[in-house]
Amino acid sequence: MLIKTNANAFVHPVPSEITSPAACQSRRDLIRLMATGVAGAALASWAAREALAQAWMPPGQQAALSRRKTSVSGALTLEKVTEYKHASTYNNFYEFGTDKADPARNAHTLKTSPWTVEIEGLIKKPGRYALEDLLKLSAQEERIYRLRCVEGWSMVIPWVGYSLSELIKKVEPLGSAKYVEFVTLADPKTMPGVGSRVLDWPYVEGLRLDEAMHPLTLLAFGMYGEVLPRQNGAPLRLVVPWKYGFKSGKSLVKIRFTDKQPATAWNKAAANEYGFYSNVNPNVDHPRWSQATERRIGEDGLFAKKRKTLLFNGYEAQVGQLYAGMDLKKYF
Ligand code: MTE
Repeated sequence: MLIKTNANAFVHPVPSEITSPAACQSRRDLIRLMATGVAGAALASWAAREALAQAWMPPGQQAALSRRKTSVSGALTLEKVTEYKHASTYNNFYEFGTDKADPARNAHTLKTSPWTVEIEGLIKKPGRYALEDLLKLSAQEERIYRLRCVEGWSMVIPWVGYSLSELIKKVEPLGSAKYVEFVTLADPKTMPGVGSRVLDWPYVEGLRLDEAMHPLTLLAFGMYGEVLPRQNGAPLRLVVPWKYGFKSGKSLVKIRFTDKQPATAWNKAAANEYGFYSNVNPNVDHPRWSQATERRIGEDGLFAKKRKTLLFNGYEAQVGQLYAGMDLKKYF
Protein backbone atom coordinates (compact mmCIF):
# COMPACT_ATOMS: atom_id res chain seq x y z
CA MET A 1 0.00 0.00 0.00
CA LEU A 2 1.24 3.48 -0.77
CA ILE A 3 0.92 6.33 1.63
CA LYS A 4 -0.25 9.51 0.03
CA THR A 5 2.03 12.10 1.43
CA ASN A 6 2.47 15.78 1.45
CA ALA A 7 5.84 16.14 3.13
CA ASN A 8 5.34 19.87 3.59
CA ALA A 9 2.37 19.26 5.82
CA PHE A 10 4.74 18.02 8.51
CA VAL A 11 7.41 20.69 8.42
CA HIS A 12 7.13 22.86 11.49
CA PRO A 13 9.56 25.75 11.41
CA VAL A 14 11.41 25.60 14.69
CA PRO A 15 14.63 26.99 16.11
CA SER A 16 17.70 24.94 15.36
CA GLU A 17 19.82 23.81 18.23
CA ILE A 18 22.63 21.75 16.86
CA THR A 19 25.72 22.21 18.92
CA SER A 20 28.56 20.11 20.18
CA PRO A 21 32.25 20.78 20.49
CA ALA A 22 33.72 17.62 19.05
CA ALA A 23 37.39 18.18 18.50
CA CYS A 24 38.04 16.31 15.31
CA GLN A 25 41.28 16.68 13.41
CA SER A 26 41.47 14.45 10.41
CA ARG A 27 39.62 15.04 7.20
CA ARG A 28 37.49 12.02 7.92
CA ASP A 29 36.59 13.44 11.29
CA LEU A 30 35.95 16.80 9.72
CA ILE A 31 33.45 15.23 7.39
CA ARG A 32 31.82 13.52 10.33
CA LEU A 33 31.81 16.80 12.15
CA MET A 34 30.04 18.45 9.28
CA ALA A 35 27.57 15.62 9.10
CA THR A 36 26.74 15.95 12.78
CA GLY A 37 26.04 19.62 12.46
CA VAL A 38 28.64 20.43 15.08
CA ALA A 39 30.38 22.95 12.92
CA GLY A 40 27.71 23.52 10.36
CA ALA A 41 27.76 27.26 10.44
CA ALA A 42 31.51 27.62 10.45
CA LEU A 43 32.52 24.88 8.08
CA ALA A 44 29.83 24.50 5.50
CA SER A 45 26.50 25.87 4.49
CA TRP A 46 23.51 23.70 5.16
CA ALA A 47 23.13 23.15 1.43
CA ALA A 48 26.72 22.00 1.09
CA ARG A 49 26.36 19.55 3.94
CA GLU A 50 23.17 18.30 2.37
CA ALA A 51 24.95 17.66 -0.90
CA LEU A 52 27.79 15.96 0.90
CA ALA A 53 25.47 13.67 2.80
CA GLN A 54 23.43 12.84 -0.26
CA ALA A 55 26.49 11.91 -2.26
CA TRP A 56 27.00 8.98 0.13
CA MET A 57 23.53 7.59 -0.24
CA PRO A 58 22.20 5.02 -2.66
CA PRO A 59 20.46 6.88 -5.51
CA GLY A 60 16.96 5.74 -4.56
CA GLN A 61 17.22 7.28 -1.13
CA GLN A 62 18.97 10.55 -1.84
CA ALA A 63 15.94 12.73 -2.32
CA ALA A 64 14.01 11.09 0.45
CA LEU A 65 16.77 11.58 2.98
CA SER A 66 16.94 15.32 2.49
CA ARG A 67 17.27 16.55 6.00
CA ARG A 68 16.67 19.64 7.98
CA LYS A 69 18.09 20.80 11.23
CA THR A 70 17.17 19.28 14.55
CA SER A 71 13.99 20.71 15.94
CA VAL A 72 13.30 18.60 18.97
CA SER A 73 14.83 19.61 22.24
CA GLY A 74 17.03 16.85 23.55
CA ALA A 75 19.83 17.49 21.10
CA LEU A 76 23.01 17.49 23.11
CA THR A 77 25.25 20.35 23.85
CA LEU A 78 28.81 20.19 25.11
CA GLU A 79 29.17 16.48 24.59
CA LYS A 80 31.52 14.89 22.17
CA VAL A 81 29.95 12.84 19.40
CA THR A 82 31.18 9.24 19.46
CA GLU A 83 33.45 8.47 16.53
CA TYR A 84 31.73 6.67 13.67
CA LYS A 85 34.30 3.88 13.83
CA HIS A 86 33.14 3.01 17.35
CA ALA A 87 29.40 3.43 16.73
CA SER A 88 29.60 1.11 13.72
CA THR A 89 31.85 -1.61 15.18
CA TYR A 90 30.77 -1.94 18.82
CA ASN A 91 27.21 -3.19 18.47
CA ASN A 92 24.47 -5.29 19.96
CA PHE A 93 22.53 -7.10 17.26
CA TYR A 94 22.20 -10.66 18.50
CA GLU A 95 20.78 -11.86 15.19
CA PHE A 96 24.38 -11.55 13.96
CA GLY A 97 26.13 -12.90 17.06
CA THR A 98 26.56 -11.93 20.70
CA ASP A 99 30.07 -10.49 20.56
CA LYS A 100 30.24 -6.70 20.14
CA ALA A 101 32.32 -7.14 16.98
CA ASP A 102 30.03 -9.79 15.43
CA PRO A 103 27.41 -7.49 13.83
CA ALA A 104 29.98 -5.46 11.87
CA ARG A 105 31.61 -8.71 10.78
CA ASN A 106 28.47 -10.66 9.89
CA ALA A 107 25.72 -8.24 8.92
CA HIS A 108 26.85 -7.88 5.30
CA THR A 109 24.40 -10.72 4.52
CA LEU A 110 21.39 -8.61 5.55
CA LYS A 111 19.36 -7.78 2.44
CA THR A 112 17.82 -4.35 2.95
CA SER A 113 16.09 -3.92 -0.40
CA PRO A 114 13.28 -4.47 -1.17
CA TRP A 115 11.97 -3.83 2.35
CA THR A 116 8.45 -3.43 3.64
CA VAL A 117 6.96 -2.81 7.07
CA GLU A 118 3.61 -4.33 8.00
CA ILE A 119 1.57 -1.90 10.09
CA GLU A 120 -1.42 -3.54 11.71
CA GLY A 121 -3.69 -3.91 14.70
CA LEU A 122 -5.89 -1.23 16.23
CA ILE A 123 -5.56 1.42 13.51
CA LYS A 124 -7.74 2.76 10.72
CA LYS A 125 -5.13 2.35 7.99
CA PRO A 126 -3.39 -1.01 8.25
CA GLY A 127 -1.20 -2.14 5.38
CA ARG A 128 2.20 -3.14 4.10
CA TYR A 129 4.26 -0.01 3.60
CA ALA A 130 7.29 0.14 1.32
CA LEU A 131 10.51 1.58 2.73
CA GLU A 132 10.53 4.21 -0.01
CA ASP A 133 7.13 5.49 1.13
CA LEU A 134 8.18 5.51 4.78
CA LEU A 135 11.31 7.47 3.87
CA LYS A 136 9.22 10.15 2.19
CA LEU A 137 6.51 10.36 4.81
CA SER A 138 8.12 13.22 6.70
CA ALA A 139 11.19 15.43 6.48
CA GLN A 140 14.31 13.78 7.88
CA GLU A 141 16.06 15.45 10.77
CA GLU A 142 19.48 15.01 12.26
CA ARG A 143 19.33 14.43 16.02
CA ILE A 144 22.21 13.87 18.35
CA TYR A 145 21.09 11.44 21.07
CA ARG A 146 22.81 9.68 23.91
CA LEU A 147 22.40 5.91 23.72
CA ARG A 148 22.84 4.20 27.11
CA CYS A 149 23.06 0.43 27.00
CA VAL A 150 21.77 -1.64 29.93
CA GLU A 151 25.24 -3.22 30.12
CA GLY A 152 26.77 0.04 31.37
CA TRP A 153 28.23 1.75 28.32
CA SER A 154 27.03 4.70 26.29
CA MET A 155 27.58 6.58 23.04
CA VAL A 156 26.50 9.89 21.51
CA ILE A 157 25.17 9.35 18.01
CA PRO A 158 23.83 11.73 15.33
CA TRP A 159 20.82 9.87 13.94
CA VAL A 160 18.85 10.78 10.84
CA GLY A 161 15.11 10.19 10.84
CA TYR A 162 11.82 11.68 11.94
CA SER A 163 9.56 11.35 14.96
CA LEU A 164 7.68 8.05 14.95
CA SER A 165 4.59 10.11 15.82
CA GLU A 166 4.48 11.31 12.20
CA LEU A 167 3.92 7.75 11.03
CA ILE A 168 1.52 6.93 13.86
CA LYS A 169 -0.67 9.93 12.99
CA LYS A 170 -0.82 8.72 9.38
CA VAL A 171 -2.14 5.27 10.26
CA GLU A 172 -4.76 6.69 12.69
CA PRO A 173 -4.80 4.59 15.88
CA LEU A 174 -8.22 3.65 17.28
CA GLY A 175 -9.21 4.82 20.76
CA SER A 176 -8.62 1.28 22.03
CA ALA A 177 -4.92 1.27 21.02
CA LYS A 178 -2.76 1.57 24.15
CA TYR A 179 0.57 -0.03 23.17
CA VAL A 180 2.78 -0.41 20.13
CA GLU A 181 4.69 -3.61 19.40
CA PHE A 182 7.81 -3.54 17.21
CA VAL A 183 8.81 -6.75 15.49
CA THR A 184 12.22 -7.00 13.85
CA LEU A 185 13.52 -9.25 11.09
CA ALA A 186 14.36 -12.88 11.97
CA ASP A 187 15.69 -14.52 8.83
CA PRO A 188 17.72 -17.66 9.54
CA LYS A 189 19.14 -17.58 6.01
CA THR A 190 20.85 -14.21 6.42
CA MET A 191 21.11 -13.90 10.22
CA PRO A 192 23.39 -16.55 11.74
CA GLY A 193 22.40 -15.68 15.34
CA VAL A 194 18.76 -16.57 14.78
CA GLY A 195 19.80 -20.23 14.96
CA SER A 196 20.87 -19.75 18.58
CA ARG A 197 18.54 -20.03 21.56
CA VAL A 198 19.82 -16.92 23.28
CA LEU A 199 16.46 -15.18 22.65
CA ASP A 200 13.01 -16.21 21.47
CA TRP A 201 13.09 -14.83 17.91
CA PRO A 202 11.96 -12.56 16.41
CA TYR A 203 13.33 -9.76 18.59
CA VAL A 204 10.23 -7.89 19.77
CA GLU A 205 10.04 -4.61 21.65
CA GLY A 206 7.18 -2.44 22.81
CA LEU A 207 6.20 1.01 24.02
CA ARG A 208 3.12 2.55 25.55
CA LEU A 209 1.31 4.56 22.87
CA ASP A 210 2.11 7.87 24.57
CA GLU A 211 5.81 6.94 24.69
CA ALA A 212 5.71 6.02 21.01
CA MET A 213 4.02 9.37 20.27
CA HIS A 214 6.63 11.38 22.19
CA PRO A 215 8.55 13.62 19.76
CA LEU A 216 11.91 12.28 20.97
CA THR A 217 11.04 8.74 19.80
CA LEU A 218 12.78 8.53 16.48
CA LEU A 219 12.24 6.33 13.45
CA ALA A 220 15.81 6.33 12.17
CA PHE A 221 16.99 5.64 8.62
CA GLY A 222 20.52 6.96 8.93
CA MET A 223 23.37 8.05 11.17
CA TYR A 224 26.32 10.39 10.68
CA GLY A 225 24.64 11.73 7.53
CA GLU A 226 24.61 8.33 5.85
CA VAL A 227 22.06 5.57 5.55
CA LEU A 228 22.24 3.19 8.52
CA PRO A 229 25.00 0.61 8.37
CA ARG A 230 23.51 -2.89 8.48
CA GLN A 231 25.00 -3.58 11.90
CA ASN A 232 23.19 -0.55 13.31
CA GLY A 233 19.78 -1.74 12.16
CA ALA A 234 19.37 -0.93 8.47
CA PRO A 235 17.21 -0.02 6.77
CA LEU A 236 15.11 1.41 9.61
CA ARG A 237 15.11 1.17 13.38
CA LEU A 238 13.75 2.80 16.45
CA VAL A 239 15.72 5.10 18.77
CA VAL A 240 14.18 5.77 22.19
CA PRO A 241 16.89 7.84 23.86
CA TRP A 242 15.59 7.88 27.45
CA LYS A 243 15.38 4.07 27.65
CA TYR A 244 18.08 1.42 27.75
CA GLY A 245 19.35 0.65 24.26
CA PHE A 246 17.60 -2.69 23.96
CA LYS A 247 14.23 -0.89 23.64
CA SER A 248 15.46 0.49 20.29
CA GLY A 249 14.65 -2.37 17.92
CA LYS A 250 16.69 -2.71 14.74
CA SER A 251 15.63 -3.69 11.21
CA LEU A 252 11.89 -3.31 11.83
CA VAL A 253 9.46 -5.39 9.78
CA LYS A 254 6.20 -5.01 11.70
CA ILE A 255 4.54 -2.37 13.87
CA ARG A 256 1.41 -3.52 15.68
CA PHE A 257 -1.03 -1.45 17.74
CA THR A 258 -2.61 -3.34 20.66
CA ASP A 259 -4.65 -2.88 23.80
CA LYS A 260 -2.32 -5.17 25.81
CA GLN A 261 1.27 -4.71 26.89
CA PRO A 262 3.39 -6.58 24.32
CA ALA A 263 5.55 -9.53 25.39
CA THR A 264 9.07 -8.31 24.63
CA ALA A 265 12.14 -10.43 23.84
CA TRP A 266 14.29 -9.49 26.83
CA ASN A 267 11.37 -9.47 29.26
CA LYS A 268 10.49 -13.01 28.14
CA ALA A 269 14.14 -14.07 28.53
CA ALA A 270 14.56 -12.65 32.08
CA ALA A 271 11.56 -10.74 33.48
CA ASN A 272 13.31 -9.90 36.76
CA GLU A 273 16.21 -8.24 34.91
CA TYR A 274 14.55 -6.47 31.98
CA GLY A 275 11.26 -4.71 32.72
CA PHE A 276 8.85 -3.46 30.08
CA TYR A 277 9.61 0.21 30.77
CA SER A 278 13.41 0.03 31.05
CA ASN A 279 13.79 3.76 31.50
CA VAL A 280 17.40 4.68 32.17
CA ASN A 281 17.51 5.09 35.93
CA PRO A 282 20.66 5.32 38.06
CA ASN A 283 18.55 4.63 41.19
CA VAL A 284 17.27 1.24 40.05
CA ASP A 285 20.04 -1.31 39.75
CA HIS A 286 20.02 -4.28 37.47
CA PRO A 287 19.83 -7.34 39.79
CA ARG A 288 23.43 -8.20 38.84
CA TRP A 289 25.06 -4.77 38.59
CA SER A 290 24.68 -1.08 39.42
CA GLN A 291 23.21 1.34 36.89
CA ALA A 292 24.63 4.43 38.64
CA THR A 293 27.55 4.95 36.24
CA GLU A 294 28.52 4.32 32.65
CA ARG A 295 31.54 4.19 30.35
CA ARG A 296 31.48 6.30 27.18
CA ILE A 297 32.74 4.15 24.31
CA GLY A 298 35.82 5.59 22.61
CA GLU A 299 36.49 8.10 25.41
CA ASP A 300 36.54 6.41 28.81
CA GLY A 301 39.17 3.67 29.00
CA LEU A 302 38.53 0.53 31.01
CA PHE A 303 40.27 2.01 34.05
CA ALA A 304 38.95 5.56 33.74
CA LYS A 305 36.60 6.95 36.34
CA LYS A 306 33.11 6.18 35.08
CA ARG A 307 30.66 8.99 34.43
CA LYS A 308 27.38 9.31 36.29
CA THR A 309 24.27 8.01 34.59
CA LEU A 310 21.43 10.51 34.46
CA LEU A 311 17.76 9.82 35.18
CA PHE A 312 15.97 9.16 31.89
CA ASN A 313 19.42 9.34 30.29
CA GLY A 314 19.36 13.13 30.70
CA TYR A 315 15.96 13.62 29.03
CA GLU A 316 13.99 14.04 32.25
CA ALA A 317 12.73 17.52 31.35
CA GLN A 318 11.25 16.16 28.14
CA VAL A 319 9.82 12.81 29.24
CA GLY A 320 9.46 12.93 33.04
CA GLN A 321 5.76 13.79 32.84
CA LEU A 322 5.02 10.52 31.04
CA TYR A 323 5.71 8.73 34.33
CA ALA A 324 4.19 11.18 36.82
CA GLY A 325 2.96 9.31 39.90
CA MET A 326 4.44 5.98 38.81
CA ASP A 327 6.67 3.95 41.11
CA LEU A 328 9.75 3.62 38.89
CA LYS A 329 11.16 0.83 41.07
CA LYS A 330 8.05 -1.26 40.50
CA TYR A 331 7.68 -0.33 36.83
CA PHE A 332 11.36 -0.68 35.97
N1 MTE B 1 17.53 -4.96 17.83
C1 MTE B 1 17.58 -6.23 17.39
N2 MTE B 1 16.76 -6.61 16.39
N3 MTE B 1 18.44 -7.14 17.93
C2 MTE B 1 19.27 -6.82 18.96
O1 MTE B 1 20.03 -7.68 19.44
N4 MTE B 1 20.05 -5.04 20.49
C3 MTE B 1 19.60 -3.87 21.24
C4 MTE B 1 19.14 -2.74 20.31
N5 MTE B 1 18.32 -3.24 19.23
C5 MTE B 1 19.24 -5.47 19.44
C6 MTE B 1 18.36 -4.55 18.82
C7 MTE B 1 20.59 -3.36 22.17
S1 MTE B 1 20.89 -4.32 23.55
C8 MTE B 1 21.22 -2.17 22.02
S2 MTE B 1 22.25 -1.53 23.23
C9 MTE B 1 21.07 -1.39 20.77
O2 MTE B 1 20.28 -2.07 19.80
C10 MTE B 1 22.45 -1.13 20.20
O3 MTE B 1 22.38 -0.31 19.07
P1 MTE B 1 23.74 0.06 18.29
O4 MTE B 1 24.46 -1.24 18.02
O5 MTE B 1 23.33 0.77 17.06
O6 MTE B 1 24.53 0.93 19.22
